[in-house]
Amino acid sequence: MQFSRFGEKFSGNSGISGLMEDLGTALSDDPTLLFMGGGNPGRIESVQSAFAARLATIAADRDQRHQLLGVYQAPQGDRGFRDELARFLQREYAWDVGPENIALANGSQSAFFVLYNLLAGEAPDGSARQIHLPLSPEYVGYRDIGLSDGFFSATRPRIERLDRGQFKYHVDFSALTLSDSVAALCVSRPSNPTGNVVSDSEVAELDRLARAKGIPLIIDGAYGQPFPGLIDETATAFWNDNSILMLSLSKLGLPGVRSGIVVASPEVTLAFSRANTVISLACGTLGPQLLRGMFDDGSLLQLCRQQIQPYYGERRRLAIRAVETARGDLPVWIHKPEGAFFLWLWCENLPIDSFTLYERLKERGVIVLPGNDFFIGSGDDWPHSRECLRISYAGDTQTIEPGIALIMDELHKTYAAHR
Ligand SMILES: Cc1ncc(COP(=O)(O)O)c(C=O)c1O
Repeated sequence: MQFSRFGEKFSGNSGISGLMEDLGTALSDDPTLLFMGGGNPGRIESVQSAFAARLATIAADRDQRHQLLGVYQAPQGDRGFRDELARFLQREYAWDVGPENIALANGSQSAFFVLYNLLAGEAPDGSARQIHLPLSPEYVGYRDIGLSDGFFSATRPRIERLDRGQFKYHVDFSALTLSDSVAALCVSRPSNPTGNVVSDSEVAELDRLARAKGIPLIIDGAYGQPFPGLIDETATAFWNDNSILMLSLSKLGLPGVRSGIVVASPEVTLAFSRANTVISLACGTLGPQLLRGMFDDGSLLQLCRQQIQPYYGERRRLAIRAVETARGDLPVWIHKPEGAFFLWLWCENLPIDSFTLYERLKERGVIVLPGNDFFIGSGDDWPHSRECLRISYAGDTQTIEPGIALIMDELHKTYAAHR
């Protein structure tokens, strides 16, 4: 079959789709593999049963059932849900938002596809515009999203070494120069893959730079505030009329529901919902219906604080302890885990590429993600980009210790073989 350029790009098996297929095949061939690779949220029974009870209530009520199954939503998404979320954001954070500042999407991944391509790519005057990632590495799902080539530019981080074998990335403002071709800045906060949280003062400076250039600052809050709130509690939630906050229901434990949220100026939400209508016609009703009432009565934040955050907190402690116990004298650093549910290991002077390490680990029965692909727009000639691994600790507690013990054992062997 002859594909179009679009077809060639989006049906290709490169980058993340290749890796995801590889992970899928590995798992179906061998279900005993210790899976620490994907971005799947943990299975928290109490959270699933809370949502299942809400689903049963909706399904038992004739009118609610009809709203769930039988109606196309308005282009910007369920109005009652947007009203309730706007009230919540005003109450919690004193943000000046109304329902016109909110647009819904079928998952935040598809929202990013629409938003990024609305802003970057070929400008009306024919010039090329990019999304700039001020703190590389970034979420690998952005990588292949652009309709044109050269879609991203990025700034490498400044690395601070901390006590107890930890390190932290900071935005390197001395290296962050924004050319006129930059269409928007974007950071995930907390970061997938690193668990870093861009500090309040870094956000304020990014906001200042974005305003000075007349471009928006996009904050990907998939793991952050207000829900599920897997973020260092000293970080302040951020939004203003020059920023775009992208939220997702997935990390609440609802990735199957495919529901994303854009909080932005009315100009952006209108453009977004028009483009999204062309692509999706309307948004799914399940996410908004499930969450209706849970902002007003406080039950959503309660679920986050009492069930979801402690679940990941326990696993994060286990994962750190497992690395510390087995690390010995290896130059393996843990990125200070400030949010999300990943440990990002920097294996300094790793004698092999992290992709080779990933393959060796897969052979030994543990699946992680190699770091290379996360250095979007910045990596190729930087040794650091081949020295990192992302480990998810969202799974069962029984996976974490043996999984990390295997990873550390392989690292000991790898370094020893090259001494
Ligand atoms: C940082 C980040 N942003 C966005 C997404 C997309 O999430 P979803 O499409 O499930 O809302 C993910 C998924 O893992 C993510 O990690």
